[in-house]
Amino acid sequence: MNTLLKGLVGIGFGLGVATTAYAQDQVEEPAATEQAAPAEQTEAETAAPEGETAEQPAVEPTADGEETAAPAEPVDETPDAAPAEEGDMASAEEEGGDEAHAGDDGHGEEDSHTPHYPLKKPRHAEWSFAGPFGHYDVAQLQRGLKVYKEVCSACHGLDRVAFRDLEELGYSEEQVKTFAADYEVEDGPDADGEMFTRAAVGSDYFPSPFPNQEAAAASNNGAAPPDFSLLAKARAVERGFPWFVFDIFTGYAENGPDYIYSLLLGYDEEKPEHIELPDGVYYNPYFISSAGLAMAKPIDDDMVDYDDGAPQTLEQYSKDVSAFMMWAAEPKLEERKKIGLRVMLFLLLFGALLWLTKRKVWSGVKH
Ligand code: HEC
Repeated sequence: MNTLLKGLVGIGFGLGVATTAYAQDQVEEPAATEQAAPAEQTEAETAAPEGETAEQPAVEPTADGEETAAPAEPVDETPDAAPAEEGDMASAEEEGGDEAHAGDDGHGEEDSHTPHYPLKKPRHAEWSFAGPFGHYDVAQLQRGLKVYKEVCSACHGLDRVAFRDLEELGYSEEQVKTFAADYEVEDGPDADGEMFTRAAVGSDYFPSPFPNQEAAAASNNGAAPPDFSLLAKARAVERGFPWFVFDIFTGYAENGPDYIYSLLLGYDEEKPEHIELPDGVYYNPYFISSAGLAMAKPIDDDMVDYDDGAPQTLEQYSKDVSAFMMWAAEPKLEERKKIGLRVMLFLLLFGALLWLTKRKVWSGVKH
């Protein structure tokens, strides 16, 4: 009996070591795929006007967070933002106390000079793709695509999405062909060495509205409109302590679409008097790196005709285009969630079986 037990323990141990080794292999693998990450960073960087840092938004976490963070950051990091006056911080803080974050307000340090952006935390919308069972709402994505095509695509590119990817939005190959034919792309060189333009086909990617970053910036008051392909993932506003702890359990990962949605709705908010913005910069308390941005309010009620009866309101447009941008940034989200769920179920079952086995194996041993 004893030998049998030892044998089993030996096998168990061996299996354990093997699994750990295998798991480590698996962990190392993503290094290759991480190459995609810098691209996201570039998105984030190009979006920030005049060298501002779009990353690391100094969200107002806790009272102590403010105390330590505030003096460390130089005020002149925000050239086109309001000059940080005495009153700035305090009132920004008052406003920052969004209804969803009741715990955040009321701790404004009177002597602090650094406003924390975004001035207001993003609102939370209901997303069909939230949670472990999340899936995209195809009708919503189609509407979002329409908003993108008719409004945003005048300034924003979608470099990494090919027309044929739109089949995932429920369009047939024929429909995609017709859709693509509306666009012109550069091709070539031809036999004479000249580049030429032709109508796009399914395998082409969405053409950029501007020939290069400089041209894009030059026609937009110095700030190039960022490409949409990864923006919904690149603009995941940090929520700070303690929210990020809760997020682990609730699985909240919709910061990106929530941010874009809030930004589009944020233009209607009144600019506080003490905030001064240069010409061509529009106040928006949800903007991640300053009190205003170089994009004027791009969309409003009734600007895009929906043919599925959805309300033609700014709110609906904002939600739809944000969902569409999330799809563009993570088209495999549904698959990822499905696999994740299966893996968790498998692990639960496997864990239960292991536990039963352990009980059986040790049942004859006195201890
Ligand atoms: C007239 C050109 C123009 C149009 C049309 C336009 N945008 Fe923009 N957008 C800009 C510019 C310029 C910026 C960069 C602003 C800055 O960084 O100061 C920008 C930035 C953004 C950002 C990034 C903000 C950030 O955090 O950096 C988002 C999101 C955005 N636009 C969404 C949209 C959506 C959605 C639409 C369509 C409904 C749209 N835009 C239409 C010019 C435009």
